[in-house]
Amino acid sequence: MTTASLADRTTAVAARATELSKIYGQGETQVVALDRVSIAFQQAELTAIMGPSGSGKSTLMHCVAGLDSFSSGSVRIGETELGSLKDKQLTRLRRDKIGFIFQAFNLLPTLSALENITLPMDIAGRKPDKQWLDTVIRMVGLSDRLSHRPSQLSGGQQQRVAVARALASRPDIIFGDEPTGNLDSRSGAEVLGFLRNSVRELGQTVVMVTHDPVAAAYADRVVFLADGRIVDEVYGPTADLVLDRMRNLPGGNPQTPEFDAKGRTS
Ligand SMILES: Nc1ncnc2c1ncn2[C@@H]1O[C@H](COP(=O)(O)OP(=O)(O)OP(=O)(O)O)[C@@H](O)[C@H]1O
Ligand SMILES: [Mg+2]
Repeated sequence: MTTASLADRTTAVAARATELSKIYGQGETQVVALDRVSIAFQQAELTAIMGPSGSGKSTLMHCVAGLDSFSSGSVRIGETELGSLKDKQLTRLRRDKIGFIFQAFNLLPTLSALENITLPMDIAGRKPDKQWLDTVIRMVGLSDRLSHRPSQLSGGQQQRVAVARALASRPDIIFGDEPTGNLDSRSGAEVLGFLRNSVRELGQTVVMVTHDPVAAAYADRVVFLADGRIVDEVYGPTADLVLDRMRNLPGGNPQTPEFDAKGRTS
């Protein structure tokens, strides 16, 4: 990365949704999952998306990441308007510019940790940047586990492989849907620490969905959704501040069965 782009990235937008709506079904069964959502994700920022179950978090991420179609509005990744792309171009953009970390790690059981990390690049016929790959592997602490299969790794280690896989191709933006949802709090904290470091030290842009105020506190910004709309936003969050805001969301009272003590949905 050049000095100029380092300076630029404080203001540059990695992805943007404008008046984005997503409607499932028709007539009586119609669900408005996203209702004219406008949001920009700044480069080199970690954004957490929160909100009650069914508020549209996954839908927003999937639409912005080009994994799902939308009903109206527009989405840009960098300078590229997703709506203008043909299927093949969209597939290529996803492959080249976007990284994903899902709650279920989506690792291939027959491949080693290293092979899983480089798989997307292998499929794309691209050679990994060796130095970068070493940096990523060292950062997630997998140097001595590279030849292990997923079944020989702990849950936290598997999730770290998934994080390394998302970082390895240096995508413009990484999306995580509850990337630490399946981990105990210590492994979760580790993975969040790596994501945090990749933003701070490597300039990576990350957007993650979480139900956990402690996880959200790792972010630079927390965006709250309710009923398919952005209803609140916090910069420089602490877990207490996030919990407080969650209490005031429509349908987001932690006393209701929707949330347990940690703010996760039941
Ligand atoms: N394929 C689908 N068909 C119909 N409705 C859907 C579909 N996918 C999601 N929805 C609805 O859209 C709304 C938003 O769903 P979404 O998965 O984005 O919520 P979420 O905020 O990610 O919830 P959770 O925290 O439970 O993961 C919900 O009301 C859901 O029932
Ligand atoms: Mg979801």
